[in-house]
Amino acid sequence: MSETVRVLLSEEEVDKRIAEIAGQISRDYEGRQVHMLCVLKGGVFFTCELSKRLTVPVSMDFMCVSSYGADTKSSGVVKIVKDLDHSIKGKDVLVVEDIVDSGRTLNYLLEYLKNQEPKSLRLCTLLDKPDRRVVNVEVDYTCFHIPDEFVVGYGLDYAQKYRNLPYIGVVELD
Ligand code: IMP
Ligand code: MG
Repeated sequence: MSETVRVLLSEEEVDKRIAEIAGQISRDYEGRQVHMLCVLKGGVFFTCELSKRLTVPVSMDFMCVSSYGADTKSSGVVKIVKDLDHSIKGKDVLVVEDIVDSGRTLNYLLEYLKNQEPKSLRLCTLLDKPDRRVVNVEVDYTCFHIPDEFVVGYGLDYAQKYRNLPYIGVVELD
């Protein structure tokens, strides 16, 4: 079985929208330092592109999380594969994600982070599939709401492939 990738959001559209969101974040955080927390691996491309366009001071950290197997997924428990390197206590933390789907990963992660007493905690996502939500998650900045389709590119993978695509595409199995 082979697959093709249909363009859903072009490189130009994605770049333009990231610049807009970066402007909004820069205004909202005026006079403060944003501590960007990139959720690996998918969030890495978005984090880089977004951070380059912020006009406020930025610091960065990276976390890597993965969901447990299908049978335990409904518990919403995710495994922390790589934890924070730096304490977030008293910092203005902005979590940067590739996509909010069921919301389970972010729901867990935000609770975990809240317990570490950041000064503020906000969430910025490149993509949101609202139709798929199982657990409520408050998203502060969303670049695009998309339909319930499996997407790749800009950090998102299908079996570890396509993360490097400079656009967002839908995987179609032939
Ligand atoms: P959750 O269901 O909101 O917990 O999302 C968990 C993770 O599933 C996301 O962070 C992505 O890494 C992955 N994911 C969800 N939807 C897609 C998709 O359409 N393409 C690629 N990865 C996805
Ligand atoms: Mg992710």
